[in-house]
Order: sequence, then structure tokens, then C-alpha cells
Amino acid sequence: MCPAEILARLSADELRAHFHNALIGREIVVVERTGSTNDAILQVATANSKEGLVLFAEHQTAGRGQRGRRWESAVGKGLWFSILLRPKIDIAGSPRLTAWAAEAISGAIQNEFSVSPTIKLPNDVQIDGRKVAGVLVEMRAQQRATHLAIVGIGVNVNQSPEDFPRELQDRVISLAMALDRQVDRQKFAIALLRNLDRTYRAQFARDS
Ligand code: BTN
Repeated sequence: MCPAEILARLSADELRAHFHNALIGREIVVVERTGSTNDAILQVATANSKEGLVLFAEHQTAGRGQRGRRWESAVGKGLWFSILLRPKIDIAGSPRLTAWAAEAISGAIQNEFSVSPTIKLPNDVQIDGRKVAGVLVEMRAQQRATHLAIVGIGVNVNQSPEDFPRELQDRVISLAMALDRQVDRQKFAIALLRNLDRTYRAQFARDS
């Protein structure tokens, strides 16, 4: 039997309570279902939205990976989210954002679970040579304003092998598979956002 928090949906209210003074997480939205969080966040954002808005979805019906690949987003089993940012880089600097996000994911996994992921450039986080997380950065040029960056992050958390398509099963892993136990997604989401916030401020923020 799994404890209730393992099975629970993400709670936007509980997440928000941890990020009052943060940049990443100053606004948090959780939706049940969307196509891709990288698109949905632009529908939620307004022209005046400050950077740091985070949008999670429990289910993506059209999750995107790098090079136009599909990203599998099993319902309620992973962390599928995007962050709206206005980093102090130009469009050509977007690989730096991808590397930052991959390192922050890897660091959060290491801190929380004492396993040591590796980063396969440009955007994969792996455990035992299998992909546990990926990053998709999409930049939007703005006239006379700081460029927008949408940083999309997918982390495989509580899937079992059968939750992945057969053709991916020997190349992917979830945290639960690596640890041989289920993981509290809410708790890990807080740890991950904290690490993203701390490291983003140090490297990219204009008003840190
Ligand atoms: C990759 O490794 O190819 C990148 C995967 C990125 C997946 C995440 S899930 C949340 C966000 N929304 C998307 O459609 N893609 C990213």
C-alpha cells in the first residue's frame, strides 16, 4: 500500500506556501491536463507577468521533447512543468539555460535521494545510463524587452517500466525504479524548485 501523499495530486496551494520569497515559484499554477506545459504557460502569462511563473500539469497530451520528439507524460506519475523566465542572456545563450536546468535537476536528485545522476549533454539527466529527466528550452525574442525563455522540465518519478512505451523501456528510468520505492512528488517538486530558484538567481537573474 502506498501512503496517501504518494498517490496525491500536486497541490498548488501547498507549493505556493514554500515560495513566497522566491523568484522561481512566485506564481504557481497546477492544471489537470494540457497539451504541452510549454504552450500552456504562455496562455496563462500576461504581458506584465514577472519571470518565475511555474505551470505544472498532471497530464500532457502532447508533451514535446528535443528535436520534435514526443515526450511521454503518464498521468500523475511524473513532474511535467514549465517555467517562464526573462534571463540576462541573448537568444544564442539558450544552451546555458538547458545546462543550468539539467544540473539543478541532477543536484536535487542527489540531495534528496543520495543517488548520483549523470548529465548527458545537451539535455538529459540519467541514472545508470537511462534517462530520468529532460529539459526543453524555447526562447521567444521580444522587441525592446528582455527575451522570454520557457524552460520545460520533465522528470520521471513514479512510473514502473510498463508505464513507458515498449520501445523506450530499456532507455528510461523513473526515480521509483531507481530507488525501488515510490516517491512523494510534492516533496520532490519543492526540493527541485528550490534548487532551480537558488541557482537561477546566482547565474541569470536581473534583479537577484
Ligand atoms: C527531452 O529530453 O527531449 C526534453 C523533454 C522535456 C519534457 C518536458 S515535460 C514539460 C515540458 N512540456 C513539454 O512539452 N516538454 C517539456
